[in-house]
Amino acid sequence: LWTPGNFVSDSIERVREQVGGGKVICALSGGVDSAVVAALIQNAIGDRLTCIFVNNGMMRKGEPQAVRDTFQRHFNANLVYADATENFLGALRGVIDPEQKRKIIGEEFIRVFDEEAARIGAVDFLAQGTLYPDVIESETTDNSVSAKIKSHHNVGGLPEHMKLSLVEPLRYLFKDEVRGVGLELGLPEEIVYRQPFPGPGLAIRIIGEVTHDKLNVLQEADAIVMDEVRRNDLYREIWQSFAVLTDTRSVGVTGDFRTYGHVIAIRAVSSEDAMTADWARIPYDVLGRISNRIANEVPDVNRVVYDITSKPPGTIEWE
Ligand code: XMP
Repeated sequence: LWTPGNFVSDSIERVREQVGGGKVICALSGGVDSAVVAALIQNAIGDRLTCIFVNNGMMRKGEPQAVRDTFQRHFNANLVYADATENFLGALRGVIDPEQKRKIIGEEFIRVFDEEAARIGAVDFLAQGTLYPDVIESETTDNSVSAKIKSHHNVGGLPEHMKLSLVEPLRYLFKDEVRGVGLELGLPEEIVYRQPFPGPGLAIRIIGEVTHDKLNVLQEADAIVMDEVRRNDLYREIWQSFAVLTDTRSVGVTGDFRTYGHVIAIRAVSSEDAMTADWARIPYDVLGRISNRIANEVPDVNRVVYDITSKPPGTIEWE
């Protein structure tokens, strides 16, 4: 019988067997998957686990600090924090193509992660929060029916010289099961019920080149979306909700003046596993408040639209 309790005790046993007396590192993203992996492994091997949190500069407003605070409150494990924002922004300069952005962010992440791992020294294992849908998606080959649509960087791709064996305790789990395991491990609800967030983060929610200025605009708009979603008790029933900074400018009017500002798109979807999704029926008055607040509070934005595309034919992210 599969229960979160049985899963936790079995996994702890299996991790101990696999790791022996070795040292493990784990990339922490702020999401539920990596947090559950970290908690499981910490339970299995204690402080032979070190977590590494790479801030790629593409996170939501205030998130890097929030992740560190939560981690320090709820984990006893070692945490290495690497702020590599400028590296990522530099590497992304002039890049427009979505897959190119993913590739660059993946490579940059590995570079930073590799450096930090080398500093820790004598590491044998890498723990990853790979879930069953990730496994299926990355085993899909080009000539199969469902061709790979977007490259996700959390599976594979580590340089040969790192020679780390993978520890992937969540490999056969779906998201709702991971949440159950998280609760079983005593993780706080703010982690367990966190909406999924893509590794490349805001870089794939800014259409076109990623710059400091655009990041600021998107972070402010996105913070308003999340604030209203939470305030109206929609956070848990929505699979993902966020703002997208389009590359369109539109004409508007503020007081007596004509403006030519950014267009922000709001995206919110319901889903079970992200393979398919429907646009969320957010109440009109909530949408209205989000729109007013963004247009009034975020400089340089004068228009807000709501994305009513399902997946398929759309995807959840715009890139
Ligand atoms: P799409 O946009 O393909 O997204 O419908 C499905 C789910 O995957 C997330 N996503 C990513 N996650 N790296 C990630 O770690 C990526 O490059 C990436 N692209 C999309 C997306 O947020 C949704 O949950």
